[in-house]
Amino acid sequence: MIDDMVRTPSAVRDAERHTAHNYHPLPVVISSAEGAWLTDVDGRRYLDCLAGYSALNFGHRHPRLIEAAHAQLDRLTLTSRAFVHDRFADFCRELAALCGKDLVLPMNTGAEAVETGIKVARKWGYQVKGVTPGRANIVVAEGNFHGRTTTIVSFSTDEDARADFGPYTPGFTVVPYGDLAALIEAIDENTVAVLLEPIQGEQGVVVPPAGYLPGVRRVCTERNVLFVADEIQSGLGRTGATFACEQEGVEPDMYLLGKALGGGIVPVSAVAANADVLGVLRPGQHGSTFGGNPLACAVATEVVRLLATGEFQRRSAELGERLHAGLRGLVGKGLVAVRGRGLWAGLDIDPALMSGREACERLMERGVLAKDTHGSTIRLAPPLVITEEEIDHAVAQLAAVLAG
Ligand SMILES: Cc1ncc(COP(=O)(O)O)c(C=O)c1O
Repeated sequence: MIDDMVRTPSAVRDAERHTAHNYHPLPVVISSAEGAWLTDVDGRRYLDCLAGYSALNFGHRHPRLIEAAHAQLDRLTLTSRAFVHDRFADFCRELAALCGKDLVLPMNTGAEAVETGIKVARKWGYQVKGVTPGRANIVVAEGNFHGRTTTIVSFSTDEDARADFGPYTPGFTVVPYGDLAALIEAIDENTVAVLLEPIQGEQGVVVPPAGYLPGVRRVCTERNVLFVADEIQSGLGRTGATFACEQEGVEPDMYLLGKALGGGIVPVSAVAANADVLGVLRPGQHGSTFGGNPLACAVATEVVRLLATGEFQRRSAELGERLHAGLRGLVGKGLVAVRGRGLWAGLDIDPALMSGREACERLMERGVLAKDTHGSTIRLAPPLVITEEEIDHAVAQLAAVLAG
């Protein structure tokens, strides 16, 4: 395999030469893609089992999304929110309907949606709940990943993400994930929100114990606290439903969305909530030059329409069963544990065998791309257009890697 690498080594070196080293990518250089498959600069093909951390739920270059993008590129790309454009209303109405909420606020990246959620929750706390000025507090979970801004890393429990980036933003209380008693204990009269991932993606696809999310919902209602669900990675079909919260019978007060909302074409994120929550914002208090731009709205409206059919959620649920059954068969054969839901899996590799990174490198050599996280864990999150045969192929390649 090494012999047919003609362009890859120098392309990897070139890519590193003039960039900050804030990532440690696998040494593969992709030049084109379609559906669930990627092709590198040397013409080798790989099955994508990461899907841009779930930004590519509909696969690479889904025809309807590409068509929507092309059509919009030929007409209007940016106005800023200083003016209204003709793609804005449909997007907001259809996304709000998908979420079952009154309003949405579009931004670009996931971190911006999280920042928006934090600002809205604080303002709601002061203006609606009556929290003492300057004292608003948000309860968050250990092992969280909500993005990379200075405020968000302030409440990260991952030292790599947090160390040396202080001084840190106050106003957050961290409790163990999945521990309802600890969460209840942390809530006081200044608590404006509980901010959680319904399944912790970066932590290794960690599913909380049954009853946890309904318990969080109950206590938030009882104590007049907003339940803010970060569904940026778990949402929009990944787990076999539109939202991971839905599978627990829970409706949060605020959804934070991103990644797949942009169809793998443009960064699109959004906050969705009812008018009593998102209505606290007035002109000038929040925004973004690119948030809700015409190109983003055109692509994201098509994403919402794809999701409104339910087809992708169904595929994820059905094919997820097959993926998880295959992976469970490897427990005791190199895997220590498998977690997840739908087409989303966190696998703990026996650390005596190899690290997660090493496993991903060996999978890459076998034509499957996945990403490690936290030592011996790998995540699988293939595009939801993946087929049964391709899932079996990925599991077979993993089995071969684990068998050495
Ligand atoms: C749950 C969650 N929230 C927020 C983010 C941040 O999104 P972005 O990288 O688009 O800022 C991520 C990214 O991985 C995420 O998984």
